[in-house]
Amino acid sequence: MPPTKEIKHSTATEIPQSSDGSTMAELKFRLIQTYDQKAKHYDTDREVNRATRYYFDCSYRAIESLMDDTSRDTVHVDMPVGTGKFLIHLRQRGHSHRMIGIDLAAGMLEVCADHSKQTGADLVLSMGDAYCLPLPDNSVDVFTCLRLMHLLPKASWPQVVGEIRRVLRPGGLMIIELRNALRGVTCQMLVAAFRSRRETHPHTFATPQQARRLFRAFTDVQLQGVGLDGTSTMSRFVPAMGKGLHFLEAKSAIRYLSKTLLATARKPKDSCCS
Ligand SMILES: C[S@@+](CC[C@H](N)C(=O)[O-])C[C@H]1O[C@@H](n2cnc3c(N)ncnc32)[C@H](O)[C@@H]1O
Repeated sequence: MPPTKEIKHSTATEIPQSSDGSTMAELKFRLIQTYDQKAKHYDTDREVNRATRYYFDCSYRAIESLMDDTSRDTVHVDMPVGTGKFLIHLRQRGHSHRMIGIDLAAGMLEVCADHSKQTGADLVLSMGDAYCLPLPDNSVDVFTCLRLMHLLPKASWPQVVGEIRRVLRPGGLMIIELRNALRGVTCQMLVAAFRSRRETHPHTFATPQQARRLFRAFTDVQLQGVGLDGTSTMSRFVPAMGKGLHFLEAKSAIRYLSKTLLATARKPKDSCCS
């Protein structure tokens, strides 16, 4: 594992305020508290229904298919690692590369460490902050960042993406999940439960244009959708139609109706340290 460096926590003056007026320090504190509390039942809570399980299954399969071939020497960082589900999924699918999980909440890391031990996944875990990653420059081949950005204020996204770019080696691959603005804003207007979640975090969405702007210091930027409403039911009853919808989410403008946008991008080969 690359040597970790001392974790510095960003202060409110370094990063803009959250849209609800709270400082970044307050938001981080709230997120740590929330995920420390959720940690023990996080996996069971999120797999309550078939549609959600189906969504995660599709999402993991899509990400795996976007990853380069891995070898034992590949260094893969997943941040936030949460309870380790994605990395353990990859291990169980036969990936033998070096996997490092980073998260800000000690409670999530503890659960992740237990899962890693129980499954023999051999994950290297480290507490760290997305705004100041405990990793050296140019040390990572693949960086996955799933289900984090919607928790953070949009004005702070460039700093997170800048950190990922810093630690990626030239040519390294970033896969980052964003909540899709079109579907997100519609849900917020129509579903009260969706609105109430904004008390813990800003619930930030991205339009495709914003996503492309965010990754302008990268090359080979691609966006694909995951989680088109109704696909789970469709695949159950008419599997061929379900497959067709997945194809369209990946290849056509239908991706902008999906729940999330999976963005892949590479650090340019000719970049040096930042
Ligand atoms: C919705 S969970 C997603 C976890 C995992 N990626 C997954 O897909 O299951 C959000 C995670 O982000 C972590 N987190 C929140 N703010 C963070 C930050 N600034 N740096 C690193 N991790 C953070 C939380 O502790 C929590 O584990």
